Amino acid sequence: MKKVGLVGWRGMVGSVLMQRMREENDFATIEPVFFTTSQVGLASPEVGKPTDTLKDASSIEALSEMDIIITCQGGDYTNSVYPALRESGWDGYWIDAASSLRMKDDSIIVLDPVNKDVIQQGLTNGIKTYVGGNCTVSLMLMALGGLFEADLIDWVAPQTYQAASGAGARNMRELISQMGAIEASVADKLEDPASAILEIDQQVADFIRSDALPTEQFGAPLAGSLIPWIDVPMPSGQSKEEWKAQVEANKILGTSDKQTPIDGLCVRIGAMRCHSQAMTIKLKKDVSVEEIEKILASHNEWVKVIPNEREATVSELSPAKVTGTLSIPVGRIRKLAMGPEYISAFTVGDQLLWGAAEPLRRMLNILQE
Ligand code: HSE
Repeated sequence: MKKVGLVGWRGMVGSVLMQRMREENDFATIEPVFFTTSQVGLASPEVGKPTDTLKDASSIEALSEMDIIITCQGGDYTNSVYPALRESGWDGYWIDAASSLRMKDDSIIVLDPVNKDVIQQGLTNGIKTYVGGNCTVSLMLMALGGLFEADLIDWVAPQTYQAASGAGARNMRELISQMGAIEASVADKLEDPASAILEIDQQVADFIRSDALPTEQFGAPLAGSLIPWIDVPMPSGQSKEEWKAQVEANKILGTSDKQTPIDGLCVRIGAMRCHSQAMTIKLKKDVSVEEIEKILASHNEWVKVIPNEREATVSELSPAKVTGTLSIPVGRIRKLAMGPEYISAFTVGDQLLWGAAEPLRRMLNILQE
């Protein structure tokens, strides 16, 4: 059995990874060794088999004993430990949720339902570093995989509606706190059916703009509002989240040398953990909606085409429906007024599952095939 070191298993992505590994019985086929940055020597989490106590996540010596390391500890940890570990001569497999190593030449971005061939080629070529993709990118490719595989896409403009979880656990808490505080600020008037809605609206607007709304994490109101900027600015005028779409998607697809343009605006909205995306797609040729739906639906077992009908869309194509599941619904597929090669599509996905933890645990299993 392979010795697998787990780092950052207590954080949000790490907890989802642990949950999925328990559900899929992944611990049965590995020898798990749990690492910690603060609690060396304490008991490891329960995984249905005996494990040693927690090891020091900063110890190159302890890490070197692993065949595989899987980390959700974050970019700072990767930046501080990974170079020293490789310099020490460690030749094991490094599986990482953080973005630090994603665009390195000697790493592969993992999303096996979409790029199993790229992963297999990487393994054959001796690549030892496998990194989870940006959540928005992975979720878009899970939804549009069929059209990319059929080489039908000329370009994509995804406009995103990204959940609080993408910014972190504290941000999810703050979103709920904002919602609660807003409700509390007008609770008396809400209870009175005779109160005037414009008065309530004015009071809510004043409250949202005031210092009383908790905004320490987001730096701006999210509940009752939105934030059309995610991550740091790039020289191109894109936000870094927007920049990632094209470079990461093409790296995942193995088309970095001949990139498909993918660019749009990324927006934070008040959903908890599902990212949604409205996509304008220019196809290379006129393909019927029926054929497009068939191609999308047959690509992988998680994508689900939702017919472009009101009831099905409202009930199936929302964060409320998808949250906590591996389902990747894609709908609102129709021809746009710009011409027969232009289509729209809307997709939703849980950014902690397919957007973060799931590709990592699947890579761990690929290493044992
Ligand atoms: N950067 C993403 C977001 C999440 O802020 O929503 C991580 O990929």
